[in-house]
Amino acid sequence: LPPRRVAILGATGSIGTNTLKVLAAFPQRFRLMGLTAHNNWDALKKLILQHQPKWCILTDPESQSTMPTISGMAHLKTNVYFGPDALNKLVRAADIDIVVNAIVGAAGLQGSWAVLETGKTLALANKETLVMAGPLVMALTKKSGARLLPIDSEPSAIFQILAERGVESVERVVLTASGGPFRGKKRDALAKVTPEEALRHPTWKMGPKITIDSATLMNKALEIVEARWLFGLRPEQIAVILHPESIVHSFVEFKDGSVLAQLSPPDMQLPIQYALLHPERLPGPAKRLAWEDLRGLTFEQADQETFPAIQLGWEVARRGGTCGAVLNAANEIAVERFLAGTLAFLDIVDVCHALVASHPFNPEPTLTELLAADRWAREEAARWQPRKLPRPPKS
Ligand SMILES: NC(=O)c1ccc[n+]([C@@H]2O[C@H](COP(=O)([O-])OP(=O)(O)OC[C@H]3O[C@@H](n4cnc5c(N)ncnc54)[C@H](OP(=O)(O)O)[C@@H]3O)[C@@H](O)[C@H]2O)c1
Repeated sequence: LPPRRVAILGATGSIGTNTLKVLAAFPQRFRLMGLTAHNNWDALKKLILQHQPKWCILTDPESQSTMPTISGMAHLKTNVYFGPDALNKLVRAADIDIVVNAIVGAAGLQGSWAVLETGKTLALANKETLVMAGPLVMALTKKSGARLLPIDSEPSAIFQILAERGVESVERVVLTASGGPFRGKKRDALAKVTPEEALRHPTWKMGPKITIDSATLMNKALEIVEARWLFGLRPEQIAVILHPESIVHSFVEFKDGSVLAQLSPPDMQLPIQYALLHPERLPGPAKRLAWEDLRGLTFEQADQETFPAIQLGWEVARRGGTCGAVLNAANEIAVERFLAGTLAFLDIVDVCHALVASHPFNPEPTLTELLAADRWAREEAARWQPRKLPRPPKS
């Protein structure tokens, strides 16, 4: 088999780094052709020297002015380009077969869209693509004949379990959640948590945005919406259960009552490898389950009063339209503000709730209308202030 030619969007992040490890484990099967980052020259410089890809792109046009001298660059065959249009050209290039989208946030949608338009294979970690524009993305995939393979661990688990089976035989899927660093805590205890505390994830090592999403359980809300569109499930067919060990990545309950699960240690290299080699299963670099150390797997119901994000996920999955784009954008800005210290932890979900409820809802938006809803929600979330409780009357 000729090697599959791969581009990684967001190569400097957590998923990007894991993807590079998977590619390195299969040198006969893959050839790395292109890498992108936003503006992290330090990390990208190392990747250029190490992998010497044909293309390297920094999507932030400003990064052209900060380009460092890369010694020996003249002898390398890497071409460096800047700006989002360069990313568009990269994914459309004739010598790219598979694109891994590991960009964080709504910025990933444009790259996903361009890959799907070309009819190529998209290995998708950027769940925001489906949260924002699920119905349009799935319609485009069908129209162009592209392959859309999930990397996110829970959708990957469902995808692995379903194999070629259709969803007609599925009663429900149960997404597992680690519960994050605040599992078991009550709302009062979360009022003053700091970014440092929220960034201390018990089982997964990930980028900062998804780590905060795991602490608020917004990550599960986003996955409810992602799974709804990716698999064509009804929102009431999607359930959530907490599983602190992060070994079972999801369950599928079939109509006859049989339940299948996908298990593996918390290591993103496995879902990345599965998407890249699909449908083959070969020995790879991912951690394996240490059966001799396994003592028990535990499950508990999510406390939805403390973590109201989950309800919001179902609501957004049910209403569809512009709700996903608004939820995603509001959450991105709220997380940024929490990390910058201008918003409290519990306000993150409150902002999202308020903006989903108050936005000018459009049930069947075009892509342009979704992008306008995204912009609206960003502006509103940036200026949103928590409601001040009335002061007690002076005695
Ligand atoms: N990490 C995980 O284990 C995990 C698991 C499941 C799903 N996911 C999903 O995978 C995606 C990536 O997550 P991550 O944790 O790998 O994120 P991350 O570590 O923060 O990396 C993000 C990557 O995106 C690039 N980027 C940031 N802003 C950008 C923009 N505006 N335009 C283009 N590129 C931009 C970054 O480039 P710079 O370095 O230049 O900033 C970096 O390469 C997210 O959608 C997340 O939900 C992640």
